Amino acid sequence: MNENPLISKQGFEYILSVLDKEYSKRTLDQLLDSLITDFPHKDYEINLPNKNKKRHKKIRLLRKQEQINGMLNIVDFLNPFNTIIEIASGNGLLASFLASKYPSTEIYGIDSNGELIRKLNNNNFSNLFFNKKDAFEYLPKNNPEIVLSLHSCGNLTDRVIDIAVSASSDIICTPCCYGKLKTTPEKEDYILPRSKSLSSYTDFFRKKIIKKSKKLEGYVNEGKRNVQNVLLDLYRVLLNFDRLLYLKEKGYKSYLTRITGQHITNQDNSRHANSSLRYAIVGLIK
Ligand SMILES: C[S@@+](CC[C@H](N)C(=O)[O-])C[C@H]1O[C@@H](n2cnc3c(N)ncnc32)[C@H](O)[C@@H]1O
Repeated sequence: MNENPLISKQGFEYILSVLDKEYSKRTLDQLLDSLITDFPHKDYEINLPNKNKKRHKKIRLLRKQEQINGMLNIVDFLNPFNTIIEIASGNGLLASFLASKYPSTEIYGIDSNGELIRKLNNNNFSNLFFNKKDAFEYLPKNNPEIVLSLHSCGNLTDRVIDIAVSASSDIICTPCCYGKLKTTPEKEDYILPRSKSLSSYTDFFRKKIIKKSKKLEGYVNEGKRNVQNVLLDLYRVLLNFDRLLYLKEKGYKSYLTRITGQHITNQDNSRHANSSLRYAIVGLIK
């Protein structure tokens, strides 16, 4: 899979120059599209237990289904492998799908929520294990080929990147909760930008990129694709550019891809692809 030449300092500066001017939604959409690398898509049979009749809960379930499908697509592209680690595995849905799809692969789910972990370890798969760990204090010992994370809030994405880099493994990570990123980080926090290529933009990240990325969240309907939202989405993409460039500097081929929203199978689904979980960072170790 060829890398997108726009994922570069020059590409970053080109996007900034576009954001300074007034363009139509169509042009901005095209710009967004040009930054994305789509991995081959398949529809998997993902039927999550739907016990709740409430509409918003059903929508949440459909979203999760689409997100899991998107993650499975990328994992499948990287097959074969022996060990996969999922950071912040939550209720273990993605890890369970992986365990069922790849019975000879060991799947480890890591989460800081001990109660979840206790429940999940009582599962029907012989290749699925869950461990209570704080990702910020965790490094894998078992040489995973893939470290992945779905819905890694704020700086958890940056930690997941570091875990993958330390294990020299491929990474698939879906960032979210940009609202949790700090504009005035303390010494022990992750300080964005992390890449050397964008180090001259530290002030700009604090004053503009992080602020704009936060703004899309909670304040507006993220799924609404009007000009303002597409612009804010582009700021999020710029924030993730730094993470992709950081991976490149660590010897990875890096891609920004979509895990939701690109292959809408029916009209009803399109409303469920919220933008904070639209993109995944993919890093393939060379
Ligand atoms: C938004 S949920 C995502 C869960 C799952 N990946 C999903 O997509 O449904 C975030 C999960 O991250 C876990 N988490 C938060 N901070 C963590 C940390 N420092 N280390 C490990 N897990 C953490 C939480 O316990 C929670 O289960």
